[in-house]
Amino acid sequence: MAFRTIIEPFRIKSVEALRFTDEPTRRRALAEAGGNVFLLRGDDVLIDLLTDSGTGAMSATQWGALMQGDESYAGSRSFYRFQAVVQDLTGFRHVIPTHQGRAAERILFESVLTAGDVVPNNNHFDTTRANVEVEGAEARDLVIAEGRVPSLVHPFKGNIDLDALERTLMADGDRVPLVMATVTNNSGGGQPVSLENLRGVRALCDRFDKPLFLDACRFAENAWFIKQREAGQADQTPKAIAQAMFALADGCTMSAKKDGLANIGGFLALNDDAWADKARTLLILTEGFPTYGGLAGYDLEAIARGLEEVVEEPYLRYRIRSAEYLADKLVEAGVPILRPAGGHAIYIDARALLPHIPPLEYPGIALVNALYITGGVRAVEIGTVMFGRGSDGAESPAAMDLVRLALPRRVYTQSHIDYVAEVVIEVASQREALRGYRIVSAPTALRHFTAKFEQLT
Ligand SMILES: Cc1ncc(COP(=O)(O)O)c(C=O)c1O
Repeated sequence: MAFRTIIEPFRIKSVEALRFTDEPTRRRALAEAGGNVFLLRGDDVLIDLLTDSGTGAMSATQWGALMQGDESYAGSRSFYRFQAVVQDLTGFRHVIPTHQGRAAERILFESVLTAGDVVPNNNHFDTTRANVEVEGAEARDLVIAEGRVPSLVHPFKGNIDLDALERTLMADGDRVPLVMATVTNNSGGGQPVSLENLRGVRALCDRFDKPLFLDACRFAENAWFIKQREAGQADQTPKAIAQAMFALADGCTMSAKKDGLANIGGFLALNDDAWADKARTLLILTEGFPTYGGLAGYDLEAIARGLEEVVEEPYLRYRIRSAEYLADKLVEAGVPILRPAGGHAIYIDARALLPHIPPLEYPGIALVNALYITGGVRAVEIGTVMFGRGSDGAESPAAMDLVRLALPRRVYTQSHIDYVAEVVIEVASQREALRGYRIVSAPTALRHFTAKFEQLT
């Protein structure tokens, strides 16, 4: 029998109390945090949508698996179980555990890049870009044009522009050691990449003899979008679709804090023996022995189980529907958002919502802070504060001023989401009263994390 209501596909066995605060308390907390929600204490936040990374709830089976953790320094049973699950999913020969995604990136890029190289991708995530650039290489974003227009609805806004990739490989091919594709495309709004597009990328990689790596953090969400939106895929299981995605690649970097359904962890997996040797040598320097790589045996168990749970259909149906549900409410209320909804987050177009606040007065920060003060909801600015300062220190508006509401996995229920929608709609109804900000102090790099702000009068 088909009922319309999609319920959370779990019941709750253990709860964590939320701490309610009143508006004066939140104003005080934000003032103490220098107007930057990154500097708030978690206890002062009611609904925390800062990130979906490492913030998910583990299942009873995962908690149970922790007790199975084998903490042998070398040859841990938990590693072999982890390796078997990753190999079943990805088909890659070498599986190298790391403490999180960026460690896999650092080890891969340090192993294979030299100064002057170019790494094409749809959109590099900020740690991916930083780890490419620290090697003196260029991180080149080649997402399709539709992926750069927030209001435009397209089923696969994360696709790579194949003509642009071909041009890059023809002009700079001798400087491209590998091609990457981020699934889903976080920096581009959590948007998926189609199998057809990955096949096109693979064909170009074959023609120019380049390996293809996936940044696979949200591979399962991407697989679900393919099942829903790509012709001929509706009858495939999410796991089979994920396997088809990985089969087109030669390796992947992975943050298990997303679709590993774990609170920490990651891995690098690849086929090339020589690259794997180099990576393992670097791994031992900073992460650990190749059978634990910076993780406890129990972490490996939790990730192994998480990778199995994350491709279950009831989970993915609920997961993607939760984001759409919030998006539908906001669109209905006339709040401008990036469309369609991403897999893991909703992105509000703060520049469109607050046209009276110029980009250099940070409309994203104005909105983030109003959401916190009004309802205790913590979001994150993805705009001019994050991307607006050039390497010469000069300020210019970022391409977009977005505010991301990221949904932790299996943590909040529908009524929490209803509450969030109510808070956003309330703030939007008072948009004219919102004021911009100026930066009082900021570090020279990654300023969004620790900058201090003052509201303009
Ligand atoms: C697409 C993408 N790649 C890489 C990373 C880095 O992963 P980690 O935070 O585990 O280092 C993230 C984290 O948010 C991400 O979203």
